[in-house]
Amino acid sequence: MDDQNLIIETFEELSPRYQKVVDAELNLFWGWRYSDFVNTLLGLTPIHPEDRILDIATGTGVIPTNIATRNPQVSSLHGLDITHAMLKHAQTDYNDSGLAQPLRLTCASAMSMPYARDSFSLVFCGLATHHMEVDLLISEMYRVLDKGGRIAVADAGSSPLWKIPGVKLMMRMVAYLYFLFKENSTRAWAEALAVSNVRTKEEWEVLLSEVGFNQIKIRQLKSKYRWVPDPLVIYATKLGVKNDKIEQFIKGR
Ligand SMILES: C[S@@+](CC[C@H](N)C(=O)[O-])C[C@H]1O[C@@H](n2cnc3c(N)ncnc32)[C@H](O)[C@@H]1O
Repeated sequence: MDDQNLIIETFEELSPRYQKVVDAELNLFWGWRYSDFVNTLLGLTPIHPEDRILDIATGTGVIPTNIATRNPQVSSLHGLDITHAMLKHAQTDYNDSGLAQPLRLTCASAMSMPYARDSFSLVFCGLATHHMEVDLLISEMYRVLDKGGRIAVADAGSSPLWKIPGVKLMMRMVAYLYFLFKENSTRAWAEALAVSNVRTKEEWEVLLSEVGFNQIKIRQLKSKYRWVPDPLVIYATKLGVKNDKIEQFIKGR
């Protein structure tokens, strides 16, 4: 099974109980409730009525539902996810919330999004970068954002300790065994593979500026235990300064 099918199978199985499970896991690892996570991300992100918003890896749509509740006037609201079953729950929950703002959902990979360049002014991504090739994801975010557009990303960051040879491999094994015991072998593989994709605050800063983002602000919050990666909340702006590397990537799409 390739990595994307592994992710889809993992989240298909998890979809009916996703919000309960994520609430328990965030509480265990970071000492947060799921609602604290969403409130922190949205509390640190300015939203304007003219914003055209995309939530990448939207899952069951908790982030767009909260955006529309707090900002009923936003110009448009989209969610994208690779797992159809997660989107089905997102659609049902959103319809049940009775919000007037339409939510447009798309099933696709965030590493190759079916949107034209300059489609959005604000792109979110919560708890999902660790399941993706982060450089492809960031290049895609840059492509679909218009000039002046912003990203708001929140996920686990890596610890400098993980640079010590052998530590990342050990963390992979710990993740595998933990999720095998608590969940199932598909989730265990998905989370073990995800260990390679987490980055430190400094690595995020380098990557974002290489792709062409400016005004990068990364807040490192505190997890409950020293050995658990701290949550990072990342905010950056596309000022549209010409960058040959990213232009080449965009032309190739
Ligand atoms: C932990 S959930 C996060 C859901 C939501 N953002 C939240 O904050 O609750 C991770 C989500 O990422 C999605 N995902 C993983 N890889 C993806 C990819 N390449 N493209 C789009 N979605 C992806 C999964 O299907 C899953 O719904």
